Amino acid sequence: MIKGNVFVSGASRGIGKNIATLFSNNGFKVIGTSRNEFSIADCNDNFIPLKLDITSRENINDCFNYLKDKNLLPNILINNAGITADQIFMRMKDEDWDNVIETNLTGTFNLSKIFIKNMIKNKNGRIINISSVSGLMGNPGQVNYASSKAALSGFTKSLAKEVGSRNITVNSVAPGYIDTDMTSFLDADAKEKIINNIPLGRIGIASDVSELVMFLASDEASYITGQTISVDGGLLMY
Ligand SMILES: NC(=O)c1ccc[n+]([C@@H]2O[C@H](COP(=O)([O-])OP(=O)(O)OC[C@H]3O[C@@H](n4cnc5c(N)ncnc54)[C@H](OP(=O)(O)O)[C@@H]3O)[C@@H](O)[C@H]2O)c1
Repeated sequence: MIKGNVFVSGASRGIGKNIATLFSNNGFKVIGTSRNEFSIADCNDNFIPLKLDITSRENINDCFNYLKDKNLLPNILINNAGITADQIFMRMKDEDWDNVIETNLTGTFNLSKIFIKNMIKNKNGRIINISSVSGLMGNPGQVNYASSKAALSGFTKSLAKEVGSRNITVNSVAPGYIDTDMTSFLDADAKEKIINNIPLGRIGIASDVSELVMFLASDEASYITGQTISVDGGLLMY
């Protein structure tokens, strides 16, 4: 029996791919998207890959109609797709600001806006946003990225307050450094410096994040909402 419909943006690689694989192998129907055509070898038939740019409301509308027709509207939305365009602030191009905000923040708005209606109707839903430790502590070269991720905390809290009475939880997960394409530019020296600041002494792996996402999507997490939970090996402690 299918446990629920999960929509994962940015499912072709890295953290999103790991989330999609975990859910599809645990009895969920998973719709995973990215801007390029893709497939995931480790996923079973419960996985449906779709080409979708989350910055295009037209694409999202078409996708919504397709899923509605197939009775596949999600009760669990995982806003994972994200990009970086790092540069020191003085040299940051306007388009690097615009693209990062449009994908990481507006993309999350676009998907949440279209899929929440059905969750409200059913009085059941989970929205999980993949934020970043960078949005909580700042990072040189990431004014655009950190701003987009910090904004997700306000988004998460405000929406959680609006839809809590409809049995919908909204939470964020803030990964630290995770070994994916996004961090592949780091050389051995840079990695060593980072690891020196991580109490658990290692860079994270995608499943460190996906296991937390799975918990937040579960019935056991039904009393957790409006939170941003770090999964960073202790890099940031309050
Ligand atoms: N890796 C880390 O250390 C780390 C740390 C903190 C937070 N995060 C966050 O975790 C999330 C996943 O990161 P990752 O490391 O797994 O990144 P990644 O390996 O670069 O994968 C990003 C995914 O997002 C998709 N994507 C990008 N822009 C898109 C768009 N406009 N529409 C649809 N899909 C889009 C990419 O596919 P296409 O290119 O084909 O579109 C890809 O599937 C991001 O939100 C990131 O900010 C990562």
